[in-house]
Amino acid sequence: MAETNALPLHIGIIMDGNGRWAARRALPRSAGHREGARAVQRTIEAASELGIKYITLYAFSTENWSRPASEIDTLMHLLEKTLDEYQQSAHKRDWRILISGERDRLPAGILAKMDALVRATAENKGISINLALNYGARQELAHAVNRLMKEGLTAVTPQDISRRLYQPEIPDPELIIRTSGEERLSNFLLWQAAYSEFYFTPVLWPDFNADELKKALEAYRARKRRFGGI
Ligand code: IPE
Ligand code: IPE
Ligand code: MG
Repeated sequence: MAETNALPLHIGIIMDGNGRWAARRALPRSAGHREGARAVQRTIEAASELGIKYITLYAFSTENWSRPASEIDTLMHLLEKTLDEYQQSAHKRDWRILISGERDRLPAGILAKMDALVRATAENKGISINLALNYGARQELAHAVNRLMKEGLTAVTPQDISRRLYQPEIPDPELIIRTSGEERLSNFLLWQAAYSEFYFTPVLWPDFNADELKKALEAYRARKRRFGGI
């Protein structure tokens, strides 16, 4: 008897392969990032239509600051454009935007737009889009521990830590997808991924679409989740 998993409530996506997508076409890496931004839009729409409640998108890691300044500029520019587009359309689509990450190093203009967008969409009831921006899981855990110390706790439970992560009300992701054939977490959701199912695909992020998302969900459905039991 094949047991099946329902649709995940929350999926996390490590959107990788923009640079290689561009290199294969002899285009600059920026062209890959632009195309990647289109894939973000498609994927959110598909996830929302399929009934996914939460999607965490790894858009910029704390380690990505080590890239050339020109590439970081491109990424920040695309991010700003995306925030503007969401500000225009999030209400129509009932999307709720959340942000996970550290604020330091992000340009003031982007921080202001992030804050405005989070505030403006806080009451929306559709899909919650958690943008992992300037995000690192170790930084998130250190942030949680610092909060616990400030509160004066001397002993902590796993729940105490979970409640002090960037988005404590979002359930752990049942499924984490990584594109581009790499099979690692790269400092993404280390704590929350304790029992996540992983789906790796060679598809490069700019080529990701609704069909690829459905394939990942299909694979998830067939997984046997045991949580330490039998
Ligand atoms: C993912 O694509 C986008 C970010 C990490 C911001 P990459 O830029 O990492 O693309 P590859 O891995 O070089 O192909
Ligand atoms: C992970 O991709 C970060 C994001 C998708 C934002 P990277 O391309 O930065 O990861 P590594 O360096 O290959 O591990
Ligand atoms: Mg990469």
